[in-house]
Amino acid sequence: MRSPIPDFLDETLDRFRPDRSGENADYIPALAAADPEKLAICISTLDGIEYTSGDAEHAFSIQSMSKPFIYGLALEQEGLAGVFEKVGVEPSGEKFNELSLDKKSGRPLNPMINAGAMTIHSILGDPGASLAERTEIVRSGLSRFAGRELTIDEDVADGEWREAYRNVAIANMLRSYDIFYDDPDEVVRGYIEQCSILVTVKDLAIMAATLAGGGLNPLTGEQVLSPRVNRHVLAVMMTCGMYDAAGDWMTEIGMPAKSGVSGGVFGVMPGQVGIATLSPRLDRHGTSVRGAKIFRDLSDRLSLHIM
Ligand code: DON
Repeated sequence: MRSPIPDFLDETLDRFRPDRSGENADYIPALAAADPEKLAICISTLDGIEYTSGDAEHAFSIQSMSKPFIYGLALEQEGLAGVFEKVGVEPSGEKFNELSLDKKSGRPLNPMINAGAMTIHSILGDPGASLAERTEIVRSGLSRFAGRELTIDEDVADGEWREAYRNVAIANMLRSYDIFYDDPDEVVRGYIEQCSILVTVKDLAIMAATLAGGGLNPLTGEQVLSPRVNRHVLAVMMTCGMYDAAGDWMTEIGMPAKSGVSGGVFGVMPGQVGIATLSPRLDRHGTSVRGAKIFRDLSDRLSLHIM
């Protein structure tokens, strides 16, 4: 007998397909030019069974959805205390690209905003690792979550790099406060390469299912994160993953999640499933409009709120 889940997902996407609110990200040429009608969903169980609907094979750049995974890799490398010295775990209540540091400690508030994510990027590898070395650590590290070898879209990266004034300003601020000692331009370029890694909703659902399963990749059987680090990553996603909309997301939808300006969103139901959506038009927080609506709908209809 055919599973009823694909029909349920088709019907869900059909209801949200006519919604044209929001705008594509405009500051990265490849994202501005992306087809705004793309719409996809994938749900992966903890044994790696994937249910899809829509443009589930369409590849797009991971953008900020890379941040929780890279944070997990840095925590595995340096330990919780070592990373905490450099980046805090408090919600900022600010936009993702705010030039902000915690007034008391002088650190970025959390690893989900750009200031924190670039600091986390700079931690990866040996001190003074080259741009190429760090980029490869990031690409191969994200691939372990996805269970296949991911690639970087250099056109996306080059386009973002040409307009990266804000991120270059943030990196220079971090360097001037001795948060890291690397060349700020190299950290920004590496972070942009990280954001330009290509994924599909099927990859993101497996990556989310890895976090849902305590750090165990359901396709490869690899323990990518230790359960302790995995729990820490999910807690920070829950409080900081949706930036200045984190409280709204947590009360209304109720699961740790992360969005990216390419229009992807992924959510994690611990011990249950990983969910990923794609729809490029964004709201003012930089989160996919239809993606957030689909998550809200699924949360209501499937009682996914973790509270
Ligand atoms: O830092 C940036 O501008 C991007 N490359 C990534 C930002 C992003 O995806 C924010 N999330 N919604």
